[in-house]
Amino acid sequence: MKKRVLVIGGAGYIGSHMVLALQDAGYAVVVFDNLSRGFADAVGAVPLVEGDLRSPANLDACFSAGRFDLVMHFAALAYVGESVAHPELYYQNNVIGTLNLLAAMRKYRVNRIVFSSSCATYGEPEIVPIAESHSQRPINPYGRTKLIIEEALRDYSAAYAFQSISLRYFNAAGCDPKGRLGERHDPETHLIPLVLAEALRVRTGNAPEKTTLKVFGDDFSTQDGSCVRDYIHVADLCRAHLLAAERLFADKSVGCEFFNLANGSGFSVFDVINVCREITGQPINYQLVSRRAGDPAVLVGTADKAAEVLGWKPEIITLAEIVETHWRWICGDK
Ligand code: UFG
Repeated sequence: MKKRVLVIGGAGYIGSHMVLALQDAGYAVVVFDNLSRGFADAVGAVPLVEGDLRSPANLDACFSAGRFDLVMHFAALAYVGESVAHPELYYQNNVIGTLNLLAAMRKYRVNRIVFSSSCATYGEPEIVPIAESHSQRPINPYGRTKLIIEEALRDYSAAYAFQSISLRYFNAAGCDPKGRLGERHDPETHLIPLVLAEALRVRTGNAPEKTTLKVFGDDFSTQDGSCVRDYIHVADLCRAHLLAAERLFADKSVGCEFFNLANGSGFSVFDVINVCREITGQPINYQLVSRRAGDPAVLVGTADKAAEVLGWKPEIITLAEIVETHWRWICGDK
């Protein structure tokens, strides 16, 4: 019998790519999503339960309708800047919502979860590349909400025999290499989609000098002054989730584990703009503005632990390849 996976937040960017990966791997999938940030059409033909994690009644309706072997939880608000301006939204959705989810899982005896955590739990790195053993002192509310859940999962595993794997993503990027799905956010705040949207704007005949693309600060202590990030392709993230699920199914002694999902290389905002210029062949202009609240200067990780324990290594590793999957998708080329 096919294993059944409940994907919370399966209409969002990473969740919807995961739905495809799970189907490709032969799992039966159900999506739970409140569609506040996701898109119903990203779910495809998979059953979609429209519901909100902040509502225990919505969760009851979902869990009572079918048996699940494992939950994957992607349904977080994930804008650093928004979390600084509206922390209540983040604590309500990411913390209270997830605790409601864990309560429903206990009630319906589902004890395996793969949780989307973040490198934002580390805060300003003291040692780069960041390993899982690095101190976790988040510098924004978003990172704090993710860390609170990691700690709850540790306690739930000790007390209730919960099995969990938390995956600390670095900067998710790119689109399905087969062109079936792409990165979509509303509003869009992420660097690569915004730079490529600017390239598309110019390609369709608009004046490059009328750009609205912003670079948030060139006064960080990095080589070129802009922030450095570790971009990891969404298809590689999905593969890691499949390996994590297999590990939870195969080994009942796995209690609570944490893995970085990183590429290991850092790229500055100006590096991203330059690679996008090369891939698209378009002149990409920008406005230099002041720093955005909550942005650490450098976030680069090592995924050696995931390689050793899960047997995972990123396969789409150059920034050019990552950018190319997104460019093909927004240009409508398969
Ligand atoms: N940036 C710009 N201009 C923009 C958008 C972004 O200069 O218009 C800069 C940001 O300041 C940052 C870098 O580009 O230095 C990357 O920004 P993103 O918004 O693409 O990504 P973040 O690093 O802020 O955040 C993302 C996810 C978080 C996750 C984090 C981990 O949104 O959920 O990666 O690094 F926690």
